Amino acid sequence: MFVGKEVLLGVTGSIAAYKAAEFARYLVRAGARVQVVMTRSAKEFITPLTFFSLTGREAYSEMYSGGPEVATAHIQLARRADLVVVAPASARTIARIAHGNAEDLLSTAVIASHAPVVLAPAMNPQMYAHPGVQNNLREIGGWKNYWIAAPGEGEMACGETGLGRLAEPQELMDFCGWVLGGGRQDLRGEHLVVTAGATFEDLDPVRFLSNRSTGKMGFAIAKVAAMRGAKVTLITAMKERPVPAGCVRVDVRSAAQMAEAVHAHLAQATTLIMSAAVADYRPAEVSMQKIKKKEGPLGLELARNIDILASLPPSPLRITVGFAAETENLMENAQDKLVRKHLDLIVGNDVTQQGSGFGTDTNQVILFEVGQEAIALPLMGKEEVAHAILDRVVALRQKQQAHLL
Ligand code: CTP
Repeated sequence: MFVGKEVLLGVTGSIAAYKAAEFARYLVRAGARVQVVMTRSAKEFITPLTFFSLTGREAYSEMYSGGPEVATAHIQLARRADLVVVAPASARTIARIAHGNAEDLLSTAVIASHAPVVLAPAMNPQMYAHPGVQNNLREIGGWKNYWIAAPGEGEMACGETGLGRLAEPQELMDFCGWVLGGGRQDLRGEHLVVTAGATFEDLDPVRFLSNRSTGKMGFAIAKVAAMRGAKVTLITAMKERPVPAGCVRVDVRSAAQMAEAVHAHLAQATTLIMSAAVADYRPAEVSMQKIKKKEGPLGLELARNIDILASLPPSPLRITVGFAAETENLMENAQDKLVRKHLDLIVGNDVTQQGSGFGTDTNQVILFEVGQEAIALPLMGKEEVAHAILDRVVALRQKQQAHLL
């Protein structure tokens, strides 16, 4: 994707500017030719020399520096680029671009460019949530040729926790590769609630019942949905797995907690994707102390957990997607769950097939919709499967909205 591509990398004044150095290195390693343009305040955080060393090109920041490209530097930079990425993009640079305010070399070059432009915001969570910033991002996200690489959640340098952390360099690479491949943000305005991975049903303070699901498929859906412009709430017990950029994680542990979280977030959801492998049973009693071994066998009584999908009030305003991980009779079981759980779409997979089990990077699935021919997909990477599922979600949402009009 990147070989021989001219990438104009804009760097603005943010503590995250150091990540731009790593991102520049990734781009160069992937075969791109990188030209860095820094705002004046970016130079307070990172030196032009760093970028010169990484890219082999002088990093520019002044409109009229008297250099070889003098007065038309911005036009030349803009014309040469196959891709423009502003990472980190500060609230100020976002505002300049949103208003066509060509105030410095970076904003001028962005405005003068025909190339696809990716803005990767990075700022304090309060600033990111501010209606002014959000309005600007919404405005820009609606423009042809512009993409927003949403920030991640986590602890910020300022000590606050929330959305605003620059997407990681590898995530930016994935995002830019997807943009160069023609990716579209067709889930803008949508709010997806995604559940992922196993649940944990405690038996005593040191033991639990669980299953082999690792959450890879659900996290891939969350990541890809955020790339495609959706707001994503990711409900999961998979604490170790990093939250993809653009997603807000809700931590749970048991099926009961997951049920509570799904119900709490459902009102805002336009789509619910239940990819979690929810435990159907939990120990009937949770011992407060570690259970000590005794002579002879130990019987374990299990109580039924709530079926989250079956417990949801039906809504004509939402798309509901379930999963059916089966070891036999995939077609019949998936069709049965589609109807019984009032789903719009169910993703069936045979977990005994090679490359389709738990924890693999690939999956082979069949998509079932009410009244439609099943769609059998080939063995694909989990992110590709996620795209295929989301393509159907987009189509179902369009059908739903046309029906409501
Ligand atoms: N599911 C759920 N609540 C549960 C169990 C499952 O919401 N307590 C959801 C899963 O997230 C999945 C779908 O229901 O989207 C199907 O899950 P699966 O475990 O295959 O179905 P079950 O109804 O548990 O059927 P069975 O155990 O008979 O296979």
